[in-house]
Amino acid sequence: SFSESRMDEFKKRFRRSGSLGIPFVPEQDMRNIQQTICEQEEGPHLLTVIITTPRSSESLTRVLATLKDPVKVQHIESREAHSGERDALEMLIQMEMSSGVKPNEVIEDLRSAGMEVTEIACTIPPIRSTDEQIFVDPGVTEALAGAPWFPKTIYDLDKCSKRVLMYGTDLDADHPGFKDAEYRKRRMFFADLALNYKQGRPVPRVEYTPKELETWSKIYRELRALHKKHACQEFLDNFALLERYCGYSEHNVPQLDDLSRFLKAKTGFRVRPVAGYLSSRDFLAALAFRVFNCTQYIRHHADPFYTPEPDCVHELMGHMALFADPDFAQFSQEIGLASLGACEEDLAKLATLYFFSIEFGLCRAKEPVKIDGSAVNGDSKSSDFKIYGAGLLSSIGELKHAIEDKPTILRFDPDRVIQQECLITTFQSAYFYTQDFEEAQQKLRMFTNSMNRPFVLRYNPYTESVEVLNNKRSLTLAVNSLRSDINLLASALHNIL
Ligand SMILES: [Fe+2]
Repeated sequence: SFSESRMDEFKKRFRRSGSLGIPFVPEQDMRNIQQTICEQEEGPHLLTVIITTPRSSESLTRVLATLKDPVKVQHIESREAHSGERDALEMLIQMEMSSGVKPNEVIEDLRSAGMEVTEIACTIPPIRSTDEQIFVDPGVTEALAGAPWFPKTIYDLDKCSKRVLMYGTDLDADHPGFKDAEYRKRRMFFADLALNYKQGRPVPRVEYTPKELETWSKIYRELRALHKKHACQEFLDNFALLERYCGYSEHNVPQLDDLSRFLKAKTGFRVRPVAGYLSSRDFLAALAFRVFNCTQYIRHHADPFYTPEPDCVHELMGHMALFADPDFAQFSQEIGLASLGACEEDLAKLATLYFFSIEFGLCRAKEPVKIDGSAVNGDSKSSDFKIYGAGLLSSIGELKHAIEDKPTILRFDPDRVIQQECLITTFQSAYFYTQDFEEAQQKLRMFTNSMNRPFVLRYNPYTESVEVLNNKRSLTLAVNSLRSDINLLASALHNIL
C-alpha cells in the first residue's frame, strides 16, 4: 500500500527522452512502494496471478476478501480482458505468502470462490532440481549474517529478476501507448514471456509486427549514422559482429536468444528477458553472474525517438555490443559483484558509478586532438571524446547533446562521480570520461576496496555461483585456479621467448 502522490512522484522520476537500464529510486523508498525484498534465503513465496472477473466495482472487494491473512497483497492492477470480452476485467495481483501458506492453496481458495485464476509466476524458492543439494561452506552463513539477501547461484536470478517495480501494462496517461489497446495487449504479451522465463532456458523468439519493424528501422538508421561518428572503437567493432552473426539490420529486430548465444561464446555474458523496471539492487546483482536483464518490447510507434522507459531499442542498440568486449564485460561483472550484499549507502554509490559509466560514460578518442590539464577542469572539447554509455548510444537527442552542446565533461573519479545526481527527467548536467575501460576498471577497484562490506566474493564460472572467500575450500580453489593460470602463462612465455 502506498499513497497515490508517492506513486506519481515515483513515476515522474522515469521520464526522459532517452532511456535507462535501471531506475534510481532509493532502496528504502522502493521497499515502501512494493515490499517484495526478501531478506531471508528461505523467504516467503511471491505469487503473481491474473484473475478474470466481471467488470463491476464489487469484483475487487470480492477478490480482496478471499485473500485472508497472512497473504499480503504487494501489487494490484487491472486491464481489459485478454479475450476482448467487454463485460470482463482482468486483475494482475502479486502476493507475498507468509511461511506455512502454500501458493496452491491460495489459488484454490480463489477458484473455490468462483474466480478464473491464471498463475503467472511463483518466484521463491528458486528453480532447482529437487534432488540438488545446496552446498554451503562452513562459516559462510555467519559471514553473511546481517547483510541484505543476494543471489548465490545463477538460478537465484529467477527470484530477483522478476521483482519488477512497474508492470508493463500499467502505462501512464502520458505514455504514447496509453490509448492504444493493441499496444497495451502487446506489452502484456511481452510481460508474460518475461515473468515465465526460467534461467538456462532459451529466450522465446518473438515475431515483431510490421509496425514494430518500422519503428525499429527508423531509429536504426539514425542511430547507426551517429554511432559511426561518435561511438568508441570497441563498440563499433563489436557492432559489426552483431550485424554479421546476430541478425542486426535495419530490417530486422534481433532475437535475444541469438544475442545470448553469441555473447556467451564471446565473453560469457547472457541475456534474460525482463518485464519492466528492477530495483538497482536486483538489476546490478545479475551482472555479477554475467547476466543482463533485457527488455524485449519496443516503444510505441507514435514517437519512435521518444520512450519514457527502457525498451529493446535501448538494450539492443545501446548495450549489447560492448558486452561482447572482454574488458567491458569484466568491468560490468565487477560492479555486479561489488553490489552483492552491499549496504544501502554503498549500493547507491555503485548504482551512480554504473549510471555514469555503463549508461552515460565517455572515453578518450583513440587519436586525441590534445591531452592537457584542462580536461580535468571540464574544459575539454567534446570532440576529443568517444561514447561508450548505452543511455547515450541509444538516444539520438542526448547523444547529440553530449557531443554538440559542450556539456561539462569531467574525469571519472569515483569520489567525484558518486556526488553527481543522476538526472532522469532531463539530460545529464555532467558526463565523465576515462582514457579507456581499463582505467574505469582500476578506479572502480579502488572504490570497491573502500566499501564497507565485511566479506569478499568470487564468481565461480564452473558452478555458476558466488563463493565467500573465508574458508579453506573456497580459498584453496581460488589459489589453485591462479596457480594453474600462472603455470599456463609461464609455458606460453617460454614458447615465445
Ligand atoms: Fe540501460
